[in-house]
Amino acid sequence: MIGNILVLILVLALVILFGWLTYRAVRAKKLWLKIVGGLLGGVMTLILAAMVFMGGKGIAATYFPDAPDAPDLAVVNTPEQIARGEYLVDIACVGCHSQVGSDGNPTGQHPLSGGWNIAEAEGFGFIGDMVTENLTPGGKLANYSDGELFRVLRYSIDQQGHELGMMAFLPYRELSNEDTEAIIAYLRSLPPVPTTGVTGDKMNFLGAVMSGAGLFGEAPPPAPAVVTAPPQGVNAEYGKYVATFGECRGCHGPDATGAPATSVSPAIPNPRPFVSELTLEQFTAVMRSGVKPDGQPFPETMPWQNASKMADDDLAALYAYLSALVE
Ligand code: HEC
Ligand code: HEC
Repeated sequence: MIGNILVLILVLALVILFGWLTYRAVRAKKLWLKIVGGLLGGVMTLILAAMVFMGGKGIAATYFPDAPDAPDLAVVNTPEQIARGEYLVDIACVGCHSQVGSDGNPTGQHPLSGGWNIAEAEGFGFIGDMVTENLTPGGKLANYSDGELFRVLRYSIDQQGHELGMMAFLPYRELSNEDTEAIIAYLRSLPPVPTTGVTGDKMNFLGAVMSGAGLFGEAPPPAPAVVTAPPQGVNAEYGKYVATFGECRGCHGPDATGAPATSVSPAIPNPRPFVSELTLEQFTAVMRSGVKPDGQPFPETMPWQNASKMADDDLAALYAYLSALVE
């Protein structure tokens, strides 16, 4: 944060310097100096001023977000909660927070010790590091209150009140309070594993400028304090909720109708035309195996493993949602 603020001040100083040089050039006696110096200086001043504006906006949104206080919360930790939390975490979180292998990529296996630099792995390391956290009580979460952990999941805000760059793009703000608490109960029940290496975000000034310019996609709408899930059932309404904890809506867009490319991710297709051609049995087989009816496997960019761990009824609800007409 301090580094980015210093760069911001430096760029602001350059704006003043180039502004002054432009002024001098325009007032020069030689015509060529007036024109060339004025134009060059003017353009530089404008570019740098835009960087200050966007960078300042990105810094404000990341380090000084409009964050609600962590709620006063004490999760009860019943066996039912822990079991539900395990189901959700093994679908939604292991893909990124599992132990990393020797190649630095997540193995999909426990312990949930994190350490995956997703920015580097996905080709946007030029904006800085984004390393997944150790979710076991052996890491920094041991010092988080239940309310602070709730705030991470509902609002993507860390203990310091800063925005969490990657978590903010995932659809967990739509998880019900009950499920959010179940996840907290489960994470607390894990055997503690110490953190090795640095975790968390380290965004550079370029990242701040790009974020301020809205290049990472639209900011999600603010989350309400209380979220309730629709009643569990094999229908499109509950299927939408399955697509939330299944993470499908994080990539395929809020209505699972596809998402346009941003500067850090490629375009993601609309899954509905494909799913609508399948029977429930075919859809279930595709999601359990990762192989489409024509024998084509999903590429690595499509984490079908999330869906492969779902209960039959949840997959059926997901099918109902993805094969329904979009309102
Ligand atoms: C797409 C990858 C991805 C998935 C899926 C994901 N996370 Fe994260 N998570 C991250 C990254 C990267 C960070 C580091 C901070 C950031 O960039 O958001 C993080 C940070 C965290 C933190 C630390 C917050 C802090 O205060 O520093 C917690 C807690 C967390 N995630 C919980 C979860 C839980 C629970 C789930 C599943 C419901 C989940 N995450 C799913 C990528 C992911
Ligand atoms: C990390 C991002 C990501 C997540 C999460 C994700 N998908 Fe995908 N999905 C993709 C990408 C990328 C493709 C395109 C793959 C390709 O090129 O064939 C895709 C393709 C698909 C397709 C095939 C579309 C077609 O026309 O061939 C279906 C169906 C699908 N996803 C369903 C789901 C479901 C259901 C979930 C949730 C359980 C989900 N996806 C979660 C990224 C994602």
